[in-house]
Amino acid sequence: METTLIILKPDAVQRSLIGRIIGRFEDKGFQIVGVKMMLIDQALAERHYEPHRGKGFYDGLIKFMTSSPVVVLAIRGIGAIEISRKMMGATFGADALPGTIRGDFGVSNSFNLVHGSDSAESARRELGLFFGSGELLDHVRAVEGWVYDLSSGTPE
Ligand code: RTP
Ligand code: MG
Repeated sequence: METTLIILKPDAVQRSLIGRIIGRFEDKGFQIVGVKMMLIDQALAERHYEPHRGKGFYDGLIKFMTSSPVVVLAIRGIGAIEISRKMMGATFGADALPGTIRGDFGVSNSFNLVHGSDSAESARRELGLFFGSGELLDHVRAVEGWVYDLSSGTPE
């Protein structure tokens, strides 16, 4: 099982899309093991987007991400990092295909609704930035055996 960090960005919260976007991840079968609403401060935004420091869009990105509250999620499932990135769609709303979150809910290149960790290393780093120890809640879902085939002993 992988756990990845998803952020519903300020535009998603302002546009009242929290429920619909979280619902996409729940509908897919992912388990939510952490969730909180917060205002990202300058320091946290800079640490989170450290890999993009110095790029042309960096200052605008930091300003956007600190401009209004976000909802951060830790979601878990087999292949959660890659699958959730596919569900988000291409970075720019104009390019994102219908059926993806960015493709269905937005048209902007800057305001693209969601963030998702892009690798196992990013997920580990980013989850550590947004969730303290004890804030990710491991729990067994009653429906687990209907989301995954557990008959072989390993979820498939
Ligand atoms: P994210 O990190 O937010 O999940 O998005 P991503 O992986 O799809 O895209 P990334 O390359 O990591 O870029 C981070 C965010 O910066 C903004 N961006 N603007 N104007 C530009 O060329 C440009 N490139 C990136 C987007 O808001 C993107 O989500
Ligand atoms: Mg990225």
